[in-house]
Amino acid sequence: MNNIIIAIDGPAGAGKSTISKLISKKMGINYIDTGAMYRAITLKCICSNIDVKDEKSVIEICKNSDVDFRDNSIYLDGINVDGKIRTNEVSSNVSYVAKIKEVREILVKKQREIGLKSSVILDGRDVGTHIFPDTKNKFYLNASAEMRGKRRYKELIERGEHVSLNEVIKDVICRDEIDSNREFAPLVKADDAVEIDSTNMSIDEVVECIISKVKS
Ligand code: DC
Repeated sequence: MNNIIIAIDGPAGAGKSTISKLISKKMGINYIDTGAMYRAITLKCICSNIDVKDEKSVIEICKNSDVDFRDNSIYLDGINVDGKIRTNEVSSNVSYVAKIKEVREILVKKQREIGLKSSVILDGRDVGTHIFPDTKNKFYLNASAEMRGKRRYKELIERGEHVSLNEVIKDVICRDEIDSNREFAPLVKADDAVEIDSTNMSIDEVVECIISKVKS
């Protein structure tokens, strides 16, 4: 049987990673959080005091980094950075890193290599449009900006961060803007993607909806 590739794209806070993790467990397939790779590079820039708008330096950092997944966890230069990449500081800087063409080329190459090894679900912004444009299984997960901001806010508060709801909603909208308007592989729904608006749906409903539509 051919490997299945499921692409889940959509804006920040649409629930992509929660949904993708559950589907990966239910279907017994691997999960690749492509955004985590951009976050890992952003984390390294912050820790190295590199301005994320200094493209040359960010590209150097990316070329000299080892970003990989093991057991669905993200490793940066051999160290598990699952927790460290989710801070508000990383979130508000990551879009600047993700819009750099050379960074995208390096990480997309890696995403394709990992994705071709076995059946897999990947979430991100360009999985169905750019990384695996030939897959039959493309989904575009969306929700209102207010709902997406509320979800991100809840996550950050649970992690002990001090943020305001308004600040998080603003940040989500700002990221949408940068991700949708960048030159290389912008956030856009693939013509053949199934769009799901999760604003008023439970997590389980979204999971079941996607699994029922997956073609092998
Ligand atoms: O899904 P996330 O919030 O963890 O993604 C972090 C950032 O990375 C987001 O602002 C957009 C970018 N990204 C991207 O450009 N392409 C991807 N395939 C995944 C994420």
